[in-house]
Amino acid sequence: MNSIKVRHVDFAKEEETPRNWLWGNYLTTNFVNSLHLIFPDGEKYFIRSVKNHEEFVKDPELKKRVKSFIAQEVIHGSEHKKFWNTLQKQGYDIDTFLKFYNESCYENLEVWMNNFRGTKHGLAVTVALEHLTASLAEYVFVNKKELEGTHENLRTMLLWHAAEEIEHKSVAFDVLKEVDPSYKTRMIGMIHAICTLSFFTLVGFFLFMKQEILDKGTKISLSEIWEFILQVTELVSSMAKEIAIFLKPDFHPDQVPNDHLAVYFFQKYKVEKEKLEVIQNVA
Ligand SMILES: [Fe+2]
Ligand SMILES: [Fe+2]
Repeated sequence: MNSIKVRHVDFAKEEETPRNWLWGNYLTTNFVNSLHLIFPDGEKYFIRSVKNHEEFVKDPELKKRVKSFIAQEVIHGSEHKKFWNTLQKQGYDIDTFLKFYNESCYENLEVWMNNFRGTKHGLAVTVALEHLTASLAEYVFVNKKELEGTHENLRTMLLWHAAEEIEHKSVAFDVLKEVDPSYKTRMIGMIHAICTLSFFTLVGFFLFMKQEILDKGTKISLSEIWEFILQVTELVSSMAKEIAIFLKPDFHPDQVPNDHLAVYFFQKYKVEKEKLEVIQNVA
């Protein structure tokens, strides 16, 4: 089990971030831009769902981990939100998506599901999404070679978030074990997580691409399209394997051997008050 450290960072940068900051490809960039819009409210949902069940946590060590988990997620949300200003300066309308996302996902769906299945359902969805984000974190470190080739303004921020997702990957799971350890609850949570994450990521992506092509007149090359198809195929097949691991009845997040990636990252990058910088090369 990882120790969970709360790090106060600030990735706000004055420098220009190119519109195609992810590998120079507008399709992959807008796919991840969509996640930038989804994460802050998603992280508030994680915090709500864990806080709703804090009373079930009796173990003092787990209580401490819950507090650190909440603090980390608050900082993640606020750092992703800072990038919203950059997206707006780049001329994108983000409000249309955010309004749709908040109204449908939280003001309606969350309320309906809480009434239908109880608040433990939100916790089970959080457990599933925490597994998916920790898996995505491992994917960017290993498959994507620490996001090599990504514009530096965002690279360190995304890697810092990824490393902390690995650090706190088992907290929500351990809280759900105290509330409702049933396999059915965990599985329903994963179905909800896959459907909502895929749906809202795609809606955000299509809204960004509509603006990119129709409003900004950006020409998308065939090689960019092909590269994007390969990237998404690789991502989906990697996530499918991680979901299969989650389906095992005796699954626990600490069984996934990726803790060393977070340790590696924080050895390689020093957290300073204002920024993260490379302090040494780790082979
Ligand atoms: Fe997070
Ligand atoms: Fe998380």
